[in-house]
Amino acid sequence: MSVPPAQLSQINIYPIKSTRGMSVSRTWVSQQGLSQDRRLMVAKRDGTMLTARTCPQLLNVNALFIDGGLRLTYPGQASMTLLMDDCSRATLGTEVWGAHFEAWRTTLQADDWFSHIIGEPVFLLYAGQRPNRIHPEMQQALAFVDEYPALLISQGSLAGLNRRSQRINSMAQFRPNLVIANTEEFAEDGWRRIKIGEVIFAVEKACERCILTTIEPETGQFHALAEPLATLAQFRAEPAGGVFFGQNLRALNAGVLEVGDVVEVLETQAKATYVDNSIDNSIDKSTLNTASASFEVGAYKNVSITLNDTCIAANNQQTLLQHFSQQSVDINSGCRAGVCGACKVTLHAGEVMQTASRALSAEDVAAGNILACCSRAITDVVLTSVAIKGSSIP
Ligand code: FES
Repeated sequence: MSVPPAQLSQINIYPIKSTRGMSVSRTWVSQQGLSQDRRLMVAKRDGTMLTARTCPQLLNVNALFIDGGLRLTYPGQASMTLLMDDCSRATLGTEVWGAHFEAWRTTLQADDWFSHIIGEPVFLLYAGQRPNRIHPEMQQALAFVDEYPALLISQGSLAGLNRRSQRINSMAQFRPNLVIANTEEFAEDGWRRIKIGEVIFAVEKACERCILTTIEPETGQFHALAEPLATLAQFRAEPAGGVFFGQNLRALNAGVLEVGDVVEVLETQAKATYVDNSIDNSIDKSTLNTASASFEVGAYKNVSITLNDTCIAANNQQTLLQHFSQQSVDINSGCRAGVCGACKVTLHAGEVMQTASRALSAEDVAAGNILACCSRAITDVVLTSVAIKGSSIP
Protein backbone atom coordinates (compact mmCIF):
# COMPACT_ATOMS: atom_id res chain seq x y z
CA MET A 1 0.00 0.00 0.00
CA SER A 2 1.45 3.36 -0.96
CA VAL A 3 2.08 5.89 1.84
CA PRO A 4 0.12 9.13 1.34
CA PRO A 5 2.34 12.21 0.97
CA ALA A 6 2.67 14.84 3.68
CA GLN A 7 -0.10 17.35 3.05
CA LEU A 8 -1.27 20.72 4.28
CA SER A 9 -4.40 19.91 6.29
CA GLN A 10 -5.18 23.25 7.99
CA ILE A 11 -4.44 26.95 7.44
CA ASN A 12 -5.13 29.14 10.48
CA ILE A 13 -5.10 32.92 10.64
CA TYR A 14 -5.21 34.99 13.84
CA PRO A 15 -6.22 38.49 12.72
CA ILE A 16 -5.75 39.95 16.24
CA LYS A 17 -2.84 38.72 18.34
CA SER A 18 -3.97 36.29 21.06
CA THR A 19 -7.58 36.10 19.90
CA ARG A 20 -9.22 32.99 18.47
CA GLY A 21 -7.98 31.78 15.11
CA MET A 22 -10.00 31.13 11.98
CA SER A 23 -9.39 28.33 9.51
CA VAL A 24 -9.36 29.14 5.82
CA SER A 25 -8.97 26.89 2.80
CA ARG A 26 -6.45 29.08 0.93
CA THR A 27 -4.33 32.10 1.65
CA TRP A 28 -1.65 34.39 0.29
CA VAL A 29 1.73 34.17 1.96
CA SER A 30 4.51 36.73 1.75
CA GLN A 31 7.80 37.13 3.61
CA GLN A 32 5.75 38.92 6.32
CA GLY A 33 3.71 35.78 6.93
CA LEU A 34 0.15 34.78 6.13
CA SER A 35 -2.09 37.49 4.76
CA GLN A 36 -3.94 39.28 7.61
CA ASP A 37 -2.23 37.24 10.33
CA ARG A 38 -1.63 39.21 13.58
CA ARG A 39 -1.96 42.62 11.91
CA LEU A 40 -3.84 43.88 14.98
CA MET A 41 -2.94 43.78 18.66
CA VAL A 42 -4.45 44.98 21.95
CA ALA A 43 -2.13 47.20 24.00
CA LYS A 44 -2.24 49.21 27.19
CA ARG A 45 -2.57 52.98 26.76
CA ASP A 46 1.23 53.31 27.07
CA GLY A 47 1.69 50.87 24.16
CA THR A 48 2.55 47.80 26.28
CA MET A 49 1.58 44.61 24.45
CA LEU A 50 -1.28 42.59 25.95
CA THR A 51 -1.61 38.89 25.20
CA ALA A 52 -3.59 35.92 26.45
CA ARG A 53 -0.67 35.04 28.70
CA THR A 54 -1.94 37.68 31.11
CA CYS A 55 -5.41 38.33 29.60
CA PRO A 56 -6.76 34.85 28.73
CA GLN A 57 -10.18 36.32 27.98
CA LEU A 58 -8.73 37.48 24.64
CA LEU A 59 -8.95 33.88 23.44
CA ASN A 60 -12.74 34.18 23.50
CA VAL A 61 -12.72 37.04 20.98
CA ASN A 62 -13.77 35.82 17.55
CA ALA A 63 -12.89 37.74 14.41
CA LEU A 64 -14.60 37.19 11.08
CA PHE A 65 -13.39 38.78 7.84
CA ILE A 66 -16.00 41.00 6.20
CA ASP A 67 -15.73 43.40 3.30
CA GLY A 68 -13.16 46.02 4.32
CA GLY A 69 -12.59 44.83 7.86
CA LEU A 70 -13.58 42.49 10.65
CA ARG A 71 -16.69 41.57 12.58
CA LEU A 72 -15.76 40.93 16.21
CA THR A 73 -17.76 38.97 18.75
CA TYR A 74 -17.26 38.17 22.44
CA PRO A 75 -19.60 36.22 24.74
CA GLY A 76 -22.07 38.50 26.53
CA GLN A 77 -21.06 41.64 24.61
CA ALA A 78 -22.60 43.28 21.55
CA SER A 79 -20.63 42.52 18.39
CA MET A 80 -18.56 45.22 16.71
CA THR A 81 -17.55 46.00 13.16
CA LEU A 82 -14.07 47.33 12.49
CA LEU A 83 -13.64 48.91 9.06
CA MET A 84 -10.01 49.56 8.23
CA ASP A 85 -10.96 52.72 6.28
CA ASP A 86 -12.29 54.21 9.54
CA CYS A 87 -9.01 53.74 11.38
CA SER A 88 -7.15 56.68 12.86
CA ARG A 89 -3.92 57.92 11.32
CA ALA A 90 -2.45 58.51 14.80
CA THR A 91 0.58 56.44 15.73
CA LEU A 92 1.63 54.98 19.06
CA GLY A 93 4.96 53.50 20.13
CA THR A 94 4.61 49.83 21.05
CA GLU A 95 6.72 46.78 21.65
CA VAL A 96 6.62 43.05 20.88
CA TRP A 97 9.17 40.99 22.85
CA GLY A 98 11.83 43.66 22.85
CA ALA A 99 11.18 45.04 19.34
CA HIS A 100 10.11 48.69 19.62
CA PHE A 101 8.23 50.28 16.74
CA GLU A 102 5.34 52.58 15.83
CA ALA A 103 1.90 51.16 15.11
CA TRP A 104 -1.37 52.89 14.22
CA ARG A 105 -4.41 53.44 16.40
CA THR A 106 -7.67 52.03 15.02
CA THR A 107 -11.04 53.41 16.20
CA LEU A 108 -12.43 54.74 19.50
CA GLN A 109 -15.20 52.19 19.25
CA ALA A 110 -12.66 49.34 18.99
CA ASP A 111 -10.69 50.76 21.92
CA ASP A 112 -13.84 50.88 24.06
CA TRP A 113 -14.92 47.42 22.98
CA PHE A 114 -11.62 45.84 24.03
CA SER A 115 -11.35 47.99 27.18
CA HIS A 116 -14.60 46.45 28.34
CA ILE A 117 -13.21 42.94 27.82
CA ILE A 118 -9.83 43.60 29.43
CA GLY A 119 -11.22 45.64 32.32
CA GLU A 120 -8.90 48.63 31.86
CA PRO A 121 -8.45 51.29 29.15
CA VAL A 122 -6.66 49.76 26.15
CA PHE A 123 -6.07 50.52 22.48
CA LEU A 124 -6.53 48.23 19.51
CA LEU A 125 -3.43 48.81 17.35
CA TYR A 126 -2.84 48.12 13.66
CA ALA A 127 0.58 47.26 12.26
CA GLY A 128 -0.36 48.55 8.81
CA GLN A 129 0.16 46.92 5.44
CA ARG A 130 3.86 47.71 5.67
CA PRO A 131 4.73 47.36 9.35
CA ASN A 132 7.47 49.51 10.91
CA ARG A 133 8.85 46.54 12.82
CA ILE A 134 11.95 45.02 11.21
CA HIS A 135 13.29 41.67 12.41
CA PRO A 136 16.98 42.35 13.13
CA GLU A 137 18.40 39.09 11.72
CA MET A 138 15.93 38.44 8.91
CA GLN A 139 15.77 42.16 7.98
CA GLN A 140 12.13 41.51 7.33
CA ALA A 141 9.07 43.60 8.24
CA LEU A 142 6.85 41.80 10.73
CA ALA A 143 3.47 42.66 12.21
CA PHE A 144 2.56 41.52 15.73
CA VAL A 145 3.76 37.89 15.51
CA ASP A 146 5.97 36.82 18.43
CA GLU A 147 9.24 36.33 16.60
CA TYR A 148 8.81 34.49 13.29
CA PRO A 149 6.27 34.93 10.50
CA ALA A 150 4.58 31.51 10.72
CA LEU A 151 4.33 28.34 12.80
CA LEU A 152 3.97 24.78 11.51
CA ILE A 153 3.01 21.65 13.47
CA SER A 154 2.30 18.16 12.18
CA GLN A 155 -0.68 16.14 13.30
CA GLY A 156 1.84 13.35 13.92
CA SER A 157 3.52 15.49 16.59
CA LEU A 158 0.21 16.19 18.30
CA ALA A 159 -0.50 12.44 18.27
CA GLY A 160 2.97 11.88 19.78
CA LEU A 161 2.17 14.32 22.57
CA ASN A 162 -1.25 12.82 23.20
CA ARG A 163 0.21 9.30 23.31
CA ARG A 164 2.33 10.44 26.27
CA SER A 165 -0.25 12.71 27.90
CA GLN A 166 -3.01 11.72 30.29
CA ARG A 167 -5.37 14.09 28.52
CA ILE A 168 -6.35 14.88 24.96
CA ASN A 169 -4.66 18.08 23.82
CA SER A 170 -6.00 19.93 20.82
CA MET A 171 -4.09 21.57 17.99
CA ALA A 172 -5.86 24.86 18.81
CA GLN A 173 -3.86 25.12 22.05
CA PHE A 174 -0.66 25.53 20.04
CA ARG A 175 -1.98 28.15 17.59
CA PRO A 176 -0.17 26.93 14.46
CA ASN A 177 -0.66 28.65 11.12
CA LEU A 178 -0.04 25.48 9.13
CA VAL A 179 -0.94 21.92 10.11
CA ILE A 180 0.53 18.99 8.22
CA ALA A 181 -1.03 15.53 7.89
CA ASN A 182 0.55 12.16 7.02
CA THR A 183 3.91 12.39 8.77
CA GLU A 184 5.52 10.53 11.62
CA GLU A 185 5.76 12.40 14.92
CA PHE A 186 8.16 15.35 14.90
CA ALA A 187 9.07 14.84 11.24
CA GLU A 188 9.15 18.64 10.98
CA ASP A 189 12.16 18.77 13.32
CA GLY A 190 14.23 17.27 10.50
CA TRP A 191 13.16 19.71 7.77
CA ARG A 192 15.34 22.67 6.77
CA ARG A 193 13.58 23.82 3.58
CA ILE A 194 10.15 22.80 2.38
CA LYS A 195 7.80 23.72 -0.45
CA ILE A 196 4.05 23.90 0.05
CA GLY A 197 1.93 25.00 -2.90
CA GLU A 198 3.73 27.94 -4.49
CA VAL A 199 5.79 28.83 -1.44
CA ILE A 200 9.24 27.74 -0.28
CA PHE A 201 9.77 28.05 3.47
CA ALA A 202 12.93 28.06 5.54
CA VAL A 203 12.41 26.13 8.76
CA GLU A 204 14.02 28.59 11.15
CA LYS A 205 13.79 27.35 14.70
CA ALA A 206 11.85 25.06 17.04
CA CYS A 207 9.11 26.97 18.81
CA GLU A 208 9.58 27.43 22.54
CA ARG A 209 6.23 27.02 24.26
CA CYS A 210 4.80 29.05 27.10
CA ILE A 211 1.78 29.15 29.36
CA LEU A 212 -0.45 30.23 26.48
CA THR A 213 -0.67 26.54 25.48
CA THR A 214 -2.21 25.70 28.86
CA ILE A 215 -5.31 27.83 28.29
CA GLU A 216 -8.29 25.66 27.46
CA PRO A 217 -9.62 26.99 24.13
CA GLU A 218 -13.22 26.20 25.16
CA THR A 219 -13.18 27.99 28.51
CA GLY A 220 -10.34 30.51 28.31
CA GLN A 221 -9.09 29.18 31.69
CA PHE A 222 -5.55 28.06 32.52
CA HIS A 223 -5.22 24.32 33.05
CA ALA A 224 -4.58 23.91 36.78
CA LEU A 225 -1.81 21.34 36.29
CA ALA A 226 -0.19 23.26 33.43
CA GLU A 227 -0.89 20.65 30.76
CA PRO A 228 0.33 20.18 28.06
CA LEU A 229 3.55 21.88 29.22
CA ALA A 230 3.90 19.34 32.03
CA THR A 231 3.98 16.43 29.55
CA LEU A 232 6.14 18.32 27.03
CA ALA A 233 8.63 18.97 29.83
CA GLN A 234 9.11 15.20 30.07
CA PHE A 235 10.27 14.68 26.50
CA ARG A 236 10.72 18.00 24.65
CA ALA A 237 12.82 20.02 27.13
CA GLU A 238 16.30 21.44 26.64
CA PRO A 239 18.64 21.17 29.62
CA ALA A 240 19.15 24.95 29.57
CA GLY A 241 15.39 25.45 29.94
CA GLY A 242 12.37 25.71 27.68
CA VAL A 243 10.13 23.16 26.04
CA PHE A 244 9.70 22.97 22.26
CA PHE A 245 6.82 21.99 20.03
CA GLY A 246 6.36 23.00 16.38
CA GLN A 247 8.70 24.78 13.98
CA ASN A 248 8.88 28.46 13.11
CA LEU A 249 8.90 29.22 9.40
CA ARG A 250 9.95 32.05 7.12
CA ALA A 251 8.60 32.22 3.58
CA LEU A 252 11.36 32.72 0.99
CA ASN A 253 8.93 33.87 -1.70
CA ALA A 254 5.32 34.99 -1.98
CA GLY A 255 2.53 32.76 -3.25
CA VAL A 256 -0.68 30.89 -2.62
CA LEU A 257 -1.21 28.05 -0.16
CA GLU A 258 -4.20 25.78 -0.29
CA VAL A 259 -5.41 23.03 2.03
CA GLY A 260 -4.49 19.74 0.37
CA ASP A 261 -1.17 21.02 -1.03
CA VAL A 262 1.58 18.41 -0.87
CA VAL A 263 4.61 19.19 1.31
CA GLU A 264 7.89 18.68 -0.51
CA VAL A 265 10.95 18.40 1.68
CA LEU A 266 13.73 20.17 -0.25
CA GLU A 267 16.43 19.99 2.41
CA THR A 268 16.74 18.15 5.70
CA GLN A 269 18.66 18.80 8.92
CA ALA A 270 19.65 16.77 11.96
CA LYS A 271 16.83 16.67 14.50
CA ALA A 272 17.42 18.15 17.93
CA THR A 273 17.60 15.40 20.53
CA TYR A 274 15.65 15.60 23.75
CA VAL A 275 15.87 13.25 26.71
CA ASP A 276 12.63 11.28 26.79
CA ASN A 277 11.37 10.62 30.33
CA SER A 278 7.76 10.32 29.27
CA ILE A 279 5.57 7.30 29.75
CA ASP A 280 3.21 5.79 27.23
CA ASN A 281 -0.32 6.83 28.09
CA SER A 282 -1.97 5.46 24.98
CA ILE A 283 -5.07 4.42 26.82
CA ASP A 284 -8.56 5.10 25.58
CA LYS A 285 -9.03 8.72 26.67
CA SER A 286 -12.45 9.08 25.11
CA THR A 287 -14.15 8.75 28.50
CA LEU A 288 -11.72 10.97 30.38
CA ASN A 289 -12.82 14.36 31.54
CA THR A 290 -10.38 16.60 29.69
CA ALA A 291 -11.55 19.75 31.42
CA SER A 292 -9.15 21.56 33.73
CA ALA A 293 -8.12 19.59 36.76
CA SER A 294 -9.45 21.40 39.78
CA PHE A 295 -7.81 22.13 43.07
CA GLU A 296 -9.18 23.70 46.17
CA VAL A 297 -7.89 27.13 47.12
CA GLY A 298 -10.78 27.84 49.47
CA ALA A 299 -13.13 30.79 49.67
CA TYR A 300 -11.92 34.17 48.43
CA LYS A 301 -9.64 35.81 50.95
CA ASN A 302 -7.56 38.97 50.97
CA VAL A 303 -3.89 38.49 51.80
CA SER A 304 -0.73 40.55 51.58
CA ILE A 305 2.40 39.62 49.67
CA THR A 306 5.72 41.17 50.60
CA LEU A 307 8.51 40.68 48.07
CA ASN A 308 11.83 42.14 49.19
CA ASP A 309 10.70 45.55 50.50
CA THR A 310 7.47 45.84 48.51
CA CYS A 311 4.15 44.89 50.09
CA ILE A 312 1.08 44.50 47.85
CA ALA A 313 -2.56 43.70 48.52
CA ALA A 314 -3.51 40.36 46.97
CA ASN A 315 -5.92 37.45 47.22
CA ASN A 316 -5.72 33.67 47.51
CA GLN A 317 -7.22 33.02 44.06
CA GLN A 318 -4.48 34.25 41.71
CA THR A 319 -0.86 33.19 41.57
CA LEU A 320 1.89 35.29 43.11
CA LEU A 321 3.18 36.00 39.62
CA GLN A 322 -0.22 37.22 38.43
CA HIS A 323 -0.31 39.68 41.33
CA PHE A 324 3.24 40.84 40.63
CA SER A 325 2.45 41.39 36.92
CA GLN A 326 -0.77 43.27 37.65
CA GLN A 327 0.89 45.54 40.18
CA SER A 328 4.11 46.07 38.21
CA VAL A 329 6.35 44.41 40.80
CA ASP A 330 9.60 43.50 39.10
CA ILE A 331 10.31 39.75 39.08
CA ASN A 332 11.86 37.25 36.67
CA SER A 333 9.48 35.03 34.76
CA GLY A 334 9.48 32.81 31.72
CA CYS A 335 7.16 29.92 30.95
CA ARG A 336 4.61 30.85 33.68
CA ALA A 337 3.88 27.13 33.98
CA GLY A 338 6.38 25.69 36.42
CA VAL A 339 8.81 24.48 33.78
CA CYS A 340 11.71 26.94 33.53
CA GLY A 341 12.33 27.96 37.15
CA ALA A 342 12.78 31.64 36.26
CA CYS A 343 10.23 32.83 38.84
CA LYS A 344 11.76 31.22 41.93
CA VAL A 345 11.33 33.16 45.16
CA THR A 346 12.19 32.21 48.74
CA LEU A 347 9.32 31.88 51.19
CA HIS A 348 10.26 33.24 54.63
CA ALA A 349 6.87 33.45 56.31
CA GLY A 350 3.31 32.41 55.57
CA GLU A 351 1.79 29.58 53.55
CA VAL A 352 1.23 29.01 49.84
CA MET A 353 -0.52 26.40 47.74
CA GLN A 354 1.89 25.32 44.99
CA THR A 355 0.44 23.31 42.11
CA ALA A 356 3.69 22.38 40.32
CA SER A 357 7.27 22.18 41.46
CA ARG A 358 9.15 20.29 38.78
CA ALA A 359 11.51 23.22 38.22
CA LEU A 360 12.69 23.06 41.85
CA SER A 361 15.71 20.97 42.85
CA ALA A 362 16.05 19.28 46.23
CA GLU A 363 18.33 22.19 47.23
CA ASP A 364 15.63 24.68 46.24
CA VAL A 365 13.05 22.90 48.36
CA ALA A 366 15.44 22.76 51.32
CA ALA A 367 16.08 26.49 50.92
CA GLY A 368 12.36 27.25 50.96
CA ASN A 369 12.23 28.27 47.30
CA ILE A 370 8.87 28.20 45.54
CA LEU A 371 7.62 29.03 42.04
CA ALA A 372 5.71 32.30 41.89
CA CYS A 373 3.86 31.23 38.74
CA CYS A 374 2.43 28.12 40.40
CA SER A 375 1.83 29.35 43.95
CA ARG A 376 -1.12 31.10 45.54
CA ALA A 377 -0.78 32.76 48.95
CA ILE A 378 -3.22 31.29 51.45
CA THR A 379 -2.00 33.53 54.27
CA ASP A 380 0.04 36.74 54.30
CA VAL A 381 3.45 35.82 52.91
CA VAL A 382 6.95 37.28 53.02
CA LEU A 383 9.27 36.48 50.11
CA THR A 384 12.63 37.44 48.70
CA SER A 385 13.87 37.13 45.12
CA VAL A 386 16.24 34.34 44.15
CA ALA A 387 19.11 35.52 41.97
CA ILE A 388 18.82 33.52 38.77
CA LYS A 389 19.54 34.27 35.17
CA GLY A 390 15.95 33.89 34.01
CA SER A 391 14.41 31.82 31.31
CA SER A 392 15.19 31.87 27.66
CA ILE A 393 11.51 32.43 27.06
CA PRO A 394 11.09 36.14 26.45
S1 FES B 1 7.93 31.29 35.09
FE1 FES B 1 8.79 29.37 34.54
S2 FES B 1 8.64 28.23 36.36
FE2 FES B 1 7.61 30.07 36.83
